Amino acid sequence: MNPNQRPLNPTNPALRPVCVITGGGSGIGKATARAMAEHRIILAGRTQSKLSDTAAELRAEGLDVLILMCDVADARSVDGLARIAAELGPVTTVVHAAGMSPHMGDAEELLRVNALGTAHVHQAFAPVLQPGGCLIDVSSVAAHLVPSMVLPRRLYPLATTAPDEFINRVTRLLALLSPSHRAGLAYAISKDYVIWLARTNAARFGKLGLRVLSVSPGYVDTPMGAAEAESTSSYLSDAPIARFGRPEELAALIAFCAGPEAGYLTGTDILCDGGVVSTSPSVLSALRRPTNTQEPKTRPLAPALAA
Ligand SMILES: NC(=O)c1ccc[n+]([C@@H]2O[C@H](COP(=O)([O-])OP(=O)(O)OC[C@H]3O[C@@H](n4cnc5c(N)ncnc54)[C@H](OP(=O)(O)O)[C@@H]3O)[C@@H](O)[C@H]2O)c1
Repeated sequence: MNPNQRPLNPTNPALRPVCVITGGGSGIGKATARAMAEHRIILAGRTQSKLSDTAAELRAEGLDVLILMCDVADARSVDGLARIAAELGPVTTVVHAAGMSPHMGDAEELLRVNALGTAHVHQAFAPVLQPGGCLIDVSSVAAHLVPSMVLPRRLYPLATTAPDEFINRVTRLLALLSPSHRAGLAYAISKDYVIWLARTNAARFGKLGLRVLSVSPGYVDTPMGAAEAESTSSYLSDAPIARFGRPEELAALIAFCAGPEAGYLTGTDILCDGGVVSTSPSVLSALRRPTNTQEPKTRPLAPALAA
């Protein structure tokens, strides 16, 4: 039987389907825990106090929550997370929400956490997820705002086969940019990699009876969204839905993607951005000097790459 179709909340918590949420201590990950409340939830992240506070809050609401320390940039740490998660019950869902934004680290850190971290989660959880299970990666609107010609997709396979070479070659390309643009483009590349990896691994996961996909949030009201607020405000004000997304709105989408109703959904990305991309000039047009007043409104390069 598809484990996602098992009766939820059996009396024995050890039989409850397990949902692992990386970056579960805050923001979208924390909201997703609430949306997956019928599962045994494992919150994973680097900051114990954040995880403990969130777990206490969720337990007070009646959720079955455990916490595990994990740095997704470290393959062994993610392997350990997957191994322990499998001992705590049948792992049916992994939501990989852990990530860093351009204000939180330099280009190399962003690539290691966002890109290599996602590769680690795929490697570690493919053998652990129960048939019928689903892995959902959180990408970003930033991946949709950058023209594909500036994305070094030919290097993406190296992230799994030769991770240090991947980092060296991408950071060498980024070094061609002015320092103020490197973290922004590194973020966009890392999130494009996330979308690429779900699409690339869909067949491999399919052979195991698993689904894998990504969700790309627009600008969302979380600690990370607040850190990027200044640089994203012009995008928000012109968007069809001119406000920050709520973490709960992303969580509901992620929970739907994880559920049996979405059983035909795999190898794709779902953009949930309040229409930001639909009204945004590309970064290339942002770089062009307007030639007449009919040109669409342009915005500076860095904000387009920020979140
Ligand atoms: N908010 C937005 O506007 C927005 C827009 C587009 C995409 N996103 C994406 O949405 C995801 C969730 O972000 P959020 O908005 O919910 O921000 P958030 O509240 O800052 O959550 C990110 C979480 O990731 C964890 N994390 C960071 N580095 C980690 C690592 N190396 N290993 C394990 N955990 C790590 C953080 O906890 P610790 O530091 O304690 O580990 C934090 O709890 C991210 O992937 C982000 O890129 C957010």
